[in-house]
Amino acid sequence: MIANLDKIQFASAVWYFTDYKKSLGNYIVDVDGNSLLDVFSQISSLPLGYNHPDLHKVIQDPDNQIAFVNRPALGIFPAEGWPEKLTNSLLSIAPKGHTQVNTFACGSCSNENAFKATFMWYRNKQRGGAPITDEENSSCLINRQPGSTPFTIMSFKGSFHGQTLGCLTTTHSRSIFKLDFPALDWPIASFPRYRYPLEEFAEENKAEDRKCLAQVEEEFERFNKSGRFVAGVVIEPVQAEGGDVHASPEFFQELQRITKKNGAALIIDEVQTGGGATGKYWCHEHFNLPDPADFVTFSKKMLTGGFYSLPEFRPQQGLKIFNTWMGDPSKVLLLEKVVEVVKRDNLLNLAQESGKRLMDGLKDLSKRYPQHIKNNVRGIGTFCAFDLSSPQKRDETFVKLQHHGVQSGPCGEQTLRLRPSLVFQPHHADIFLDILETVLNDIQTV
Ligand SMILES: Cc1ncc(COP(=O)(O)O)c(C=O)c1O
Repeated sequence: MIANLDKIQFASAVWYFTDYKKSLGNYIVDVDGNSLLDVFSQISSLPLGYNHPDLHKVIQDPDNQIAFVNRPALGIFPAEGWPEKLTNSLLSIAPKGHTQVNTFACGSCSNENAFKATFMWYRNKQRGGAPITDEENSSCLINRQPGSTPFTIMSFKGSFHGQTLGCLTTTHSRSIFKLDFPALDWPIASFPRYRYPLEEFAEENKAEDRKCLAQVEEEFERFNKSGRFVAGVVIEPVQAEGGDVHASPEFFQELQRITKKNGAALIIDEVQTGGGATGKYWCHEHFNLPDPADFVTFSKKMLTGGFYSLPEFRPQQGLKIFNTWMGDPSKVLLLEKVVEVVKRDNLLNLAQESGKRLMDGLKDLSKRYPQHIKNNVRGIGTFCAFDLSSPQKRDETFVKLQHHGVQSGPCGEQTLRLRPSLVFQPHHADIFLDILETVLNDIQTV
């Protein structure tokens, strides 16, 4: 099957073909009939596992079928009831302080549009109410100032914000994503890299926070001085593709303060962390930020891409934060049901409970198998990860887990990440931990 696909497109990234009819709940079934406990859940994008009966009912409901058959150009022809649908789904779980939401198709286009909204806001502030000039209108058509701006977005080493060209400039996780593509000269600061166990290295890790924040300040100064103003700072609450790298709430609080002080917007990319796996819908809500983030972008478990933003970031003109589809109402219908099920079945609490079981088990394994699992097991809710002793051991563990019936996900250099869906229960954590231990007993020490 892979060979057939490869005749049509380069298919080297395919792991296996999947039988979506047979896949159920936490179990993915491949076309050979192998059933695997899926703790990767389609790169973290399945909110309720496979074939959730409540989601099937949404599609069977005749009132909903219209939305599946007639995909609108949402920015121009929304269906009657669209504001209510947004209110019942996305806005009902909005991060604190957010009343504005825009939908898009995927995570990358959500970030791209958040960047654009940031630039517009920044330029508007600079104009201070002055009208847009003819020169601006004509120069932007040939990519020249003043119509095209020299503005920048600051990002962090190790980050991943998508693979469209603008986002790719802010992505720094792996060279495979970036090689051969042009990139904009935008500021990049270091993301903290802590020593574990955190309790033992509290002072060192605080110093690491200070070092990275000082770099953020320096980059602001360097770029603002040269006229390439930093309009926004984009950051993941946990750097996921980059290897599940965590930073302290204090780091994020201080970053927000510095960003505000420099008149820039803070864009929190919750594409991977959002949607409930951390035990809250939005991971950054664990950080007790003094103010709401300016933008929160999402996709994956939310089923639709998009961003929340504060009212001051509303565009001043139409057609600018815009594309043909601007998301898909059928996905929002499904999301509305997901939000209902999460509440009804208490799934945010379940993520905390199952996450605790995972974290306790992983920490125990890292103590008993220190030759294989490093002592930097980390996680919030079920959003957990652990490092193997080398990149080769990580790859070996990943493959052996598959052979023993567990689908996990690699990230970073030598990390395995757990991204189960919200229906993952403590007994699934036990099954995973048992199989992991079997694998650890089977891998070579040298
Ligand atoms: C944090 C983060 N931002 C953005 C993206 C890009 O999303 P998409 O693949 O939907 O374009 C991803 C994808 O993995 C992500 O993890």
